[in-house]
Amino acid sequence: MSTQPNRPRIVCLPGDCIGPEVMAVAQRALRKLAPDLELEEHVFGAGAIRSTGTSLPDATLEACRAADAVLKAPIGDPEFDAADVRPEQGMLRLRAELDVYANLRPASRGEIDLLIVRELVGGLYFGARGVREDGTVFDTCEYHPTQVERIARRAFELARSRRGRLTSVDKANVLETSRLWRRVVHEVAADYVDVEVEDMLVDNAAMQLASAPEQFDVIVTENMFGDILSDLAAAMTGGLGLAPSASLSDDGPGIFEPVHGSAPDIAGRGIANPAAMLRSTALMLEHGLARPNEARALEGAVDVALHERPTRDLGGTATTAEFADAVVAAFTH
Ligand code: IPM
Ligand code: MG
Repeated sequence: MSTQPNRPRIVCLPGDCIGPEVMAVAQRALRKLAPDLELEEHVFGAGAIRSTGTSLPDATLEACRAADAVLKAPIGDPEFDAADVRPEQGMLRLRAELDVYANLRPASRGEIDLLIVRELVGGLYFGARGVREDGTVFDTCEYHPTQVERIARRAFELARSRRGRLTSVDKANVLETSRLWRRVVHEVAADYVDVEVEDMLVDNAAMQLASAPEQFDVIVTENMFGDILSDLAAAMTGGLGLAPSASLSDDGPGIFEPVHGSAPDIAGRGIANPAAMLRSTALMLEHGLARPNEARALEGAVDVALHERPTRDLGGTATTAEFADAVVAAFTH
């Protein structure tokens, strides 16, 4: 196939277990909706460990760097749970290499319409770790003020484009990194006087999310807190089968992937819910390629399919393929 200069190049990472099943649906939708996109596939995750010995092979990383966007299905396989080389290591490395520091995780249903903005390349996930001579094991949480500033700016911008409310979540009553977080967020707030900002301790935020989630507009938080709270937000709005994410840098390609994992328990049965993968694809069209009209069309079609042909995790009977049929059919309505 010849490469035309102006065709946006999407690197697709089909991943593991249900990954290829939901990726196939995303590709089918894109071929229908945005046929000019050039889709190429690369190995990543457990499959890549099996074939190359590493989760993120150099060729895959180079392709991602050169792409306009990275569309990623879940990775991970129980086979590697206790192994030294694990699929997740490649994922963390890809996030760091592409410097996708801003992880957007929207969650909405009925009265709930919130956006978690999770810092993605700092904190406990990337701090020094190790084992001391006496057998003590440690992970450290570190943040530089510039890391906090850039994610805070993103979150304020996003809050400004939504309902103008920002909740900054930390544990400033205990953690030094959280005290820095809080100070920097308030410094940045001076440039966004139109945004109403409040601080919330993470334990209280979890309770508020579970009991009164409609109070939130944009939530900004550090890496680990964002990991935990975004699963909770997904559970409050229909479950992990529906939750998409976008991970953005300042200028390079973003990574677009479902929040859920590779679901080894249902892999290969054709029953996985592709909605989160499709919604991640919509986020790619919007934030990665600046094609909001196609993004809206895809989101609308997913909503129709969720209504007409829900999969088993949502109490329906549709297979992955039947759900995909309903999505594609909705494009032509
Ligand atoms: C997520 C996942 C990952 C994370 C894991 C698989 C490393 O839980 O994207 O939320 O913790 O970031
Ligand atoms: Mg998670």
